[in-house]
Formats: sequence, structure tokens, C-alpha cells
Amino acid sequence: MSNIYKGLKPSRRNFLRGAAASGAALVGGATGARAAGDPLITEKQPWSQYLGAGVDEAPYGMPSKFEAHVRRQDVPWLTADPISSINFTPLHELDGIITPNGVCFERHHGGVAEIAPQDYRLMINGLVDRPLVFTMDDLMRFPRENHVYFLECAANSGMEWAGSQLNGCQFTHGMIHNVMYTGIPLRLLLEEAGVKTSGKWLLPEGADASGMTRSIPMEKAMDDCLVAFKMNGEALRPEQGYPVRLVVPGWEGNMWIKWLRRIEVGDQPWHHREETSKYTDLLANGQARRFTWEMDAKSVITSPSPQKPITHGPGRMVLTGVAWSGRGTIPRVDVTLDGGITWHMARMSGPSMDKSMHRFYYDFEWDGKPMLLQSRAHDSTGYVQPTKDALRAIRGENSIYHNNSIQTWSVNEQGVAENVEIS
Ligand code: MTE
Ligand code: CO
Repeated sequence: MSNIYKGLKPSRRNFLRGAAASGAALVGGATGARAAGDPLITEKQPWSQYLGAGVDEAPYGMPSKFEAHVRRQDVPWLTADPISSINFTPLHELDGIITPNGVCFERHHGGVAEIAPQDYRLMINGLVDRPLVFTMDDLMRFPRENHVYFLECAANSGMEWAGSQLNGCQFTHGMIHNVMYTGIPLRLLLEEAGVKTSGKWLLPEGADASGMTRSIPMEKAMDDCLVAFKMNGEALRPEQGYPVRLVVPGWEGNMWIKWLRRIEVGDQPWHHREETSKYTDLLANGQARRFTWEMDAKSVITSPSPQKPITHGPGRMVLTGVAWSGRGTIPRVDVTLDGGITWHMARMSGPSMDKSMHRFYYDFEWDGKPMLLQSRAHDSTGYVQPTKDALRAIRGENSIYHNNSIQTWSVNEQGVAENVEIS
């Protein structure tokens, strides 16, 4: 995806403005409740005067029709063809920490492979005692585990390096999803094949037309990688690698090979395309960082945000967002309303799990004045999410991948939010 970013000047004012909703409508007053007498509660409504749909109307249920706006979206100019493209998770519409399967962002390099489970095979070969081929039925006989992990594409927020660009957290931060996986520890399958002592690296390979491959060090494979077949309790979606994908917790999304067909064991990294010309980080001195596997701690305010303006006017309000770290948990998130002059500790809510998304809230009384909103994540290693300037001081301006800097939303008196850069 690198070329398409080059030469782009900040153009947020012209971009995606349509996504911002209409102005404020002061209906609830400062209390967040309303006086009795509303006809919607005192009068009989149409939906209580007819019989509704019965069971079996939808054997596989869909969201309410009133939620049709909650959907993945792409950015048309970003890639030339949907077959090698990306779309974005609607973070601004979600709450809690789990991404519903139907809105998990998609990144394909050769479109979605359609593989019937009976035709599925996984091979382990290379520096092993016994090269093996597993069918789906074979895999189902290995002990399985459940873990919630975020998957973040290394290119998430990549468009924002040089200046604020895209108007909405869906577009600036939506190359991420957070899902409960059911899968077999990769270690168990490798032990079955018997890794030779010279076997130090793995090359997982996808069965899709892109034949995606990445080199993964043996320690990671033996630690927490999963060969996963379920997401949020049901089969993986085709877009997410049905029937089987690799889960590489906390590490960049590119390594999570979908439609996993083969794992080769070798004694050194392969340096294939996705770890040389792509997914390396060009520094200011012209040198590139070779492997940047771990995803650094990061957070974003999802509401208010450009696609989720404040529509209720001043008074009681809820600010919320998500935070994550590839190195552990997020014990703390700070929030500022004034561009970093004063910081407040946000309220964390929901399960706190290793390498999973965390949810934070800040409940406050809005005085109706303009705000500069930012969030700052602290992870369990003590690392603190940097400002954009701090990150650029180390990484230079040429980078695309691994932008974990603090995001700013400017909110005006009408409650309309915009992507801006202040630090
Ligand atoms: N695996 C295969 N086989 N083919 C691909 O195109 N894309 C990678 C990775 N695994 C890809 C793949 C990239 S760059 C990312 S960010 C994640 O899958 C995206 O996973 P998702 O589509 O579930 O969001
Ligand atoms: Co990616």
C-alpha cells in the first residue's frame, strides 16, 4: 500500500466531510433525560398494533434495519482494485471490546479464497522429523484454547504520518479488530511433526491467490500462536481466512496468514516480499528497520469523533474509546479535553486481557466550548503512547507502518468533530 500514500498533502478539509452528521439538536437538556408527556411513551405506537415476525424469520439473524449504517467502509482512492485492498472497522459505532464478525476489517492481497472444509489441508514440512498433512478432522482432535486478541494491520494510521488526513476514526484507526479465537496452539502441531534442532524459523503460507508468506521466529510459534478455526464462537468468516488462519498475538496483522495451507520450518528468515519491500520502516537516515513485529500501545477516542459528533448540546456526556498493546494489557488511559494541558484518568470497563482491546470511558459535563480531545494509553510494561512529534523525532517522516501516536479530534461549539494535528 506504500505508493498510494506518497505525495499526499493533508487534505482533511475536503475529505469525507459528508461523514460528519448534522448540527446539534438540544433535546435532552443538560440532564440527559426528559419530562413525562412524550407521545412516543403516552400514545400507542404502530409496532404494538400488529403481530411481528415469528421465529425462523431469519435462521441466521442480522442486525436491525435501523443499524444499516454500521458497516465496513473503504477509501476509494486508496487502492486501485478491491481484490488487493482494505476496508475499515466502524470503530465509532461499536462499544465494549469485541468486534462483531460482520464488521471486522478486511485486508486481501488476492481476494477471498473459497475453500470447502473437506478440501482443506495443512502441511508442515522442512526441518522436521515427520512432514505431516492435517485435514480438518485431524485438527479437531488436538486440544484447543480460547483467547481474545486484537489484530492490527501495521499500516493502520499510516496515512496520518505527515499530517491529519482522514476524517473519522474508522479511517484513521479502523484497520483493527478484536475477536475471541478458538484454535490449537501451534506448538502442539509442531511437536507432532518434531522440529529438528536446526529449525529456528517458520514460513506460514496462505492458500489464496496471493500465496502470502511471512517468516516467524520459532520462539513466538512455541509461545502463543494459534491455528484458529473459530472467531467469536462461530466458524471464521471467509474474509478472515475460513476455514483456518494463523493467530500471532500482539504482532502485526500481516503475519496472521489467512487460509493457512502450509508451514515450512527453516533455519533462517526467508526475506520474502512482505518483509522487505513491504512492512519495513524507512527511517530518516535512509535505512530501514528490518522486522517490526510487535504492535506498540495505542488508543483512540471513538466518540465523539468526526463520524460521531455531539448532537445533544452541552451538559452530561459520555466520551469513549479503545486502547490496546501488543506487549500486554492497558491498565490506564488518560484523556484530555484541552489538547494536553490537563489530563484526566479515564474509567476502564470490561475485561482486561493480554494483547486484547480495552474499553475506556470519561463521563463529564460539557460546557459547550470547543475542545481538543486526545487519549493516551499506558501499557502493562510502563510504556506510554507518544505524541506525533515524539514519534517522528525517532522515526522520521518517511514511515507508513507502526504509527501509534496520539490522535487529536477538534470539537466545535456545535459538537462537530474534525481530525487535526497539534503535537
Ligand atoms: N493472509 C493471506 N493469505 N492473504 C492476505 O492477503 N493479508 C494480511 C493478513 N493475512 C493476508 C493474509 C494482512 S496485511 C492483514 S492486516 C491481515 O491478514 C488482515 O486480516 P483480516 O482480513 O482478518 O482483517
Ligand atoms: Co495488513
